[in-house]
Amino acid sequence: MIFLGPPGAGKGTQAQILEREHGVHAISTGDLLRRNRAEGTALGRAAEGYMDRGELVPDALILAMMEPVVRAAPAGVLLDGFPRTVAQAEALDALLAQCERRAVAILFEIDLGLLEARLVGRWTNPRTGRVYHDVFAPPRVAGIDDDDGGPLIQREDDEPETIRKRLRVYREATAPLVTYYDRAGRLQRLDATANVESVTHTIEGLVGPESNAA
Ligand code: AP5
Repeated sequence: MIFLGPPGAGKGTQAQILEREHGVHAISTGDLLRRNRAEGTALGRAAEGYMDRGELVPDALILAMMEPVVRAAPAGVLLDGFPRTVAQAEALDALLAQCERRAVAILFEIDLGLLEARLVGRWTNPRTGRVYHDVFAPPRVAGIDDDDGGPLIQREDDEPETIRKRLRVYREATAPLVTYYDRAGRLQRLDATANVESVTHTIEGLVGPESNAA
């Protein structure tokens, strides 16, 4: 299962809820890359400039990172933030075909004009990736994670100019995946403007026992 949608649409929020409440195994490429950066790995150093500029990390680096992760993942795995280009989607299909699995995409549909407010108000726990929002999903104590009591941070790429760049990149490089999965009959859509609980409810309805997701 793939979560597809623009930055700030709520993909990470929903992935974390599915993990917590339904035991879904979720993998976020953004979180994997940020962990590599924090640990100072070669991949993290190669990726950081692209991430800070709001650009996509090159396909070759992403595919090298994701191939072993996808091979090792259990059936029903949720991919948040991958694939993000047609080349990545084709590579994922080829990889899954080798293990007789296939991917279905869930598109988070939202007016792009709503996203800046979501992203500039976002606070993240850098240790766990859990996300909050000043207004829409505030922690019990401002700046402090509800779970582990540690400090929350704001992501460097959530600055208005970088957000606008990320939205442009989404329109140009990632939005074509909507057609890619739709033509293959493997796209489901949800209204991501709804509140968090409604979106979760919609996903629970979409991802039933009949799902053939990877
Ligand atoms: P990544 O970390 O994946 O960022 P993104 O796709 O830009 O997505 P976001 O994490 O910004 O948004 P989200 O949809 O998860 O929203 P969230 O749930 O947090 O990628 C970062 C970078 O890594 C990329 O720019 C790129 O450089 C690189 N990268 C990653 N994958 C790559 C790939 N495959 N190829 C190449 N490069 C790659 O919600 C946002 C805010 O809104 C939160 O504050 C939340 O509390 C709030 N919120 C959530 N849902 C709702 C709701 N329903 N109503 C109101 N508020 C809500």
